[in-house]
Amino acid sequence: MIDLRSDTVTKPTPAMRRAMAEAEVGDDVYGEDPTVYLLQGRAAEIFGKEAALFVPTGSMGNQIAVKLHTKAGDEVIIEERGHIFNYEMGTPAVVAGVLIRPVKSQTGSGILTWKEIESALHINQPYYACPTGLICLENSHNLAGGSVMTAEHCAEICDAAHKLGIPIHLDGARIFNAAAALNESVAELSKNVDSVQFCLSKGLGAPVGSMLLGKKDFIEEARVWRKRLGGGMRQVGVLAAAGLIALEETPKVLHLDNENAKLLAKGAANLKGVSIDAEKVATNIVIFDVSNADISASEICAKLKEYDILASSFGNSIRMVTHYDVSRKDIETTLKAMRVIIK
Ligand SMILES: Cc1ncc(COP(=O)(O)O)c(C=O)c1O
Repeated sequence: MIDLRSDTVTKPTPAMRRAMAEAEVGDDVYGEDPTVYLLQGRAAEIFGKEAALFVPTGSMGNQIAVKLHTKAGDEVIIEERGHIFNYEMGTPAVVAGVLIRPVKSQTGSGILTWKEIESALHINQPYYACPTGLICLENSHNLAGGSVMTAEHCAEICDAAHKLGIPIHLDGARIFNAAAALNESVAELSKNVDSVQFCLSKGLGAPVGSMLLGKKDFIEEARVWRKRLGGGMRQVGVLAAAGLIALEETPKVLHLDNENAKLLAKGAANLKGVSIDAEKVATNIVIFDVSNADISASEICAKLKEYDILASSFGNSIRMVTHYDVSRKDIETTLKAMRVIIK
């Protein structure tokens, strides 16, 4: 199988499996798991943040951040295709009691400008509007086709928001792919944000887990909310051990996933009825529109399956995601099949 549905499908590498088997463990709810301790310390060091917390999922990391930065009745500004708004099951409303104010990115890139954010702010209108309590950013932006935000752009938004006393949370589920594309460190890409979440279990390849990072007090409080939400784990060093390998080893090769995605996008762009601007594909996510093809997106995915190739369809679009279990040859095989299916 060539599985292009997501980078969440990666299987742990032999090194991860070995580390998992040999991991030193303890009860992490008691704060006694040495491997979790190592992972949290290393993540904080890499990102240049005061502290980090190992959480079971990216969604939990994001939602703890939304909860901690806001109070019930606040509004959270996010680009309209943001993951926190579209794919986290309404948790901002359920757990934090906040409203989402989705904002359209006029360029279509998914990367909001400060001007776009500013026009959606509610400040100093206590009797009419829900106050803006938080701005959420996403880098790379999943639904916008893995687009990336530069460190300068992020810093500009943070500076402007902080002047108004509004915190910023960064959903950096795939921030390492963004860093590889921009040739930038993850520390620079998240420098001025108040909190950042990144996933070990996506392109980095660990089987489970995400990290939430921020100031020491914030992470202490996040630990309480993790437990409250059922995310207190016990001898979880077996998972943190895989996370440590993912964190140290995989970033070195993520540029290959980005290159494979570009190759895929360029090949897809040459197919009749397929529209995608391959130049804009920066990371490992390729989303193309097939409304002008003679065959629907879901039919294309069904036919690809006959070639042992898996992809996801959404309306008239198909999403393919590269990762370390997909080689350049797999991309060539996929394009070959697509040339037969989309005549
Ligand atoms: C951008 C983004 N943020 C957060 C998440 C949530 O991660 P998890 O599936 O670990 O909850 C995802 C998952 O696909 C994602 O793409």
